[in-house]
Amino acid sequence: MEPTASAAPATKEINNIETISITDNRTGKQYEIPIDNGTIKALDLRQIKVNSDDFGMMTYDPAFMNTASCKSRITFIDGDKGILRYRGHSIDDLAERCTYLEVAYLLLHGELPNKAQLEEWTNNITTHTFVHENIKKFMDGFHYDANPMGMLVSTLAALSTFYPSAKHINDPKERQLTIYRLIGKVPTLAAFAYRHSIGMPYVHPDNELSYAENFLSMMFKVAEPKYKPNPILAKALDVLFILHADHEQNCSANAMRGVGSSHVDPYSASAAAAAALYGPLHGGANAEVLYMLDLIGTKDKIPEFIRDVKDGKGKLMGFGHRIYKNYDPRAKIIKRLADQVFEVTGRNPKLDIALELERIALEDDYFIKRKLYPNVDFYSGLIYQAMKFPVDMFPVLFAIGRMSGWLAQWQEMLLDQEQKIARPRQVYLGHDQREVVSLSKRS
Ligand code: CMC
Repeated sequence: MEPTASAAPATKEINNIETISITDNRTGKQYEIPIDNGTIKALDLRQIKVNSDDFGMMTYDPAFMNTASCKSRITFIDGDKGILRYRGHSIDDLAERCTYLEVAYLLLHGELPNKAQLEEWTNNITTHTFVHENIKKFMDGFHYDANPMGMLVSTLAALSTFYPSAKHINDPKERQLTIYRLIGKVPTLAAFAYRHSIGMPYVHPDNELSYAENFLSMMFKVAEPKYKPNPILAKALDVLFILHADHEQNCSANAMRGVGSSHVDPYSASAAAAAALYGPLHGGANAEVLYMLDLIGTKDKIPEFIRDVKDGKGKLMGFGHRIYKNYDPRAKIIKRLADQVFEVTGRNPKLDIALELERIALEDDYFIKRKLYPNVDFYSGLIYQAMKFPVDMFPVLFAIGRMSGWLAQWQEMLLDQEQKIARPRQVYLGHDQREVVSLSKRS
């Protein structure tokens, strides 16, 4: 698009395309930039130059606060209204009426499976739950108290060496096989990591059990010939996997897409995504909620704790969200789920403190003004703890559910003609060229 030097009034539409007019006050030139889906292309700004030597205008957006890095048809979030949908289906509907494997199919294929498709999908994932015996030896090499999330990250990456043909990412059959393997094997790796950390023998997958039941069996089976998971706990875990399955362009999905854009195999890309999830700002907040509830100790200490938060002495963990400025819809479902789980496990004594904390916070001006509501992590840790998962396993549980979302985001990126290797620009503020001073003369 050629820049126009006139000071003509802003043109709103050219050939039915909405545009935005930008006047460069350095040169007086005016530019018409097309608007597509409420966005302008950053590359369209490159034409804005002071002179022909000028590189052209870029946008500066650390942390991608206002930059769409892709077009996606997977997950929709309206943070102001508290809406989360996968492929158009509300998270409440999916949690109520579907299993995790149906939801994983939905994320990857765009539609819910019919009966035959679900059978085939379930069968393919179930038959890929076993891992190579050498993976066990690899696991054994970790220190006895190794963090299970660190073990998961490493073993996901190691899988690429067991399945080298996964690097043929342009072959749809290879991609499909890797998707079965990753969704099938991530619970096995996760459970093996846990068993290693407590010095218990690994439990092989039981292919007669459902996805969540099998995971519980690999985690908690002791000497019984067949592990019989509690159906309410298995259902609760399945719902938690659904709630964590995708959340559009979050830090780990962005890592999956960014690393995957180099066309590395998806095992390596999902190890990168899991590494992103390992960070306390992403997958670790529910553990922080438990530490906070322990710190508060009793209900009568809550007002003092809230005062401290308002004085900037800490945060109310499990509250607030970059996108949700309303009740996180996942938190509502988890709160209901907690009641069902506690009927089986007994009430987590921290629940009373959490409920009172929520009540007080939601009536307090500080939280109301800043639109701070409970997020997904406020109650999930309480459920995991009641189900006997150790705190170190919380991000690992998150990773199991999120694997289908990572793979859906990865495949969408690969098939998107507009995508290329992810390579941001920078604003260079360092030195101009200068000469090396010989070592003896450096101060
Ligand atoms: N407790 C007290 N004050 C808070 C909290 C909180 N949990 N969260 C935000 N604020 C305040 C913050 O201090 C700021 O106040 P002011 O305007 O006076 O400076 C205002 O609210 C806006 O906060 P922000 O830090 O600009 O918001 P953000 O979008 O950058 O941060 C967040 C979002 C989730 C990092 C933050 O709310 C937080 O740290 N919450 C606690 C940790 C947590 O629960 N994280 C889990 C997020 S959900 C996981 C997922 O979806 O993956």
